[in-house]
Order: sequence, then structure tokens, then C-alpha cells
Amino acid sequence: MSADPIYTEMIIEYSRNPSNFGKIENPHIHRHDSNPLCGDSIDLYVNVDGNKITEVKFDGKGCAICMACTSVLTEMIQGKNLEEVKNFKKDDLLSELGLGHLIKTSPVRIKCALLSLKALKYGIYSYFVDKMNDTEAAGNLKEEAASLY
Ligand code: FES
Repeated sequence: MSADPIYTEMIIEYSRNPSNFGKIENPHIHRHDSNPLCGDSIDLYVNVDGNKITEVKFDGKGCAICMACTSVLTEMIQGKNLEEVKNFKKDDLLSELGLGHLIKTSPVRIKCALLSLKALKYGIYSYFVDKMNDTEAAGNLKEEAASLY
């Protein structure tokens, strides 16, 4: 696995020691998502206070890229405003791990890298629509999530 240049030291380290790994009981936002072809799946848990993200955790299993990207995503959104996080683009996450080239070169790996962002966008969408009854705030998050990869 380490012969592939995609597996940088940072990705391997994150996959061994994922950030914010664990579960939140009764979170404000919870979303499960998976890549059925490889069998990997994650659960993302988020607590908010007002519009601010106060706590993020995830659990589940995935390949090194999936674990690393999910870890980094949880770090990036901690303490941020939901409005800001809503607008996260795939490049924001991929470039954090030097994986921007994945968009063009690896349609399979892109699913690993963006699984958590998809879960996050669907999760925030459900939070706004189902819990806050605010479809305007949800915007086009659902469409964005569906078209990530
Ligand atoms: Fe399953 Fe990467 S191989 S998420």
C-alpha cells in the first residue's frame, strides 16, 4: 500500500490514529453513509449550539483514505458555523490532504475521500429540514451531496 504515492505519511498516520473517533449519544445531527461496493461505512455525529458546531465524532470502518479524509473533515468543521460548513466544497477537503488530483485521476478513490463530506451535507440538510423546519437554510445541500461523486 505504501508504494502508491497517494498514501502519504499524513494519510497513513490519520488512518492509524483517526481524529475524533467515537460516538455521540443523541446528537443533533447523525448520518450514516457507505460505499456499498467496498463495504466500508461511517457514522457521523454532530452537536450544535445555535448555529455553531460544538462537537463532532465519527465511527465505522473504511480504507486509509476514507479514515484520513473523515478525520480531517471533523477537524475542519469543529467550532465552525453551520452556514460556513454548508458551503464546504470537495476541493476544500481534498486539498487539505494533498489529494486534489484525485478528482481527475481516480473515480474509485474519490468515493473513499468524499464519503464523509457526503454524509455531512446530507446530515445538515436533514437537520435544517426535519428538525428546524427551515428548507430555505437547507438550500440545495441535498443536490450537492448527491452530485459529489
Ligand atoms: Fe471503501 Fe475506500 S475502499 S471507502
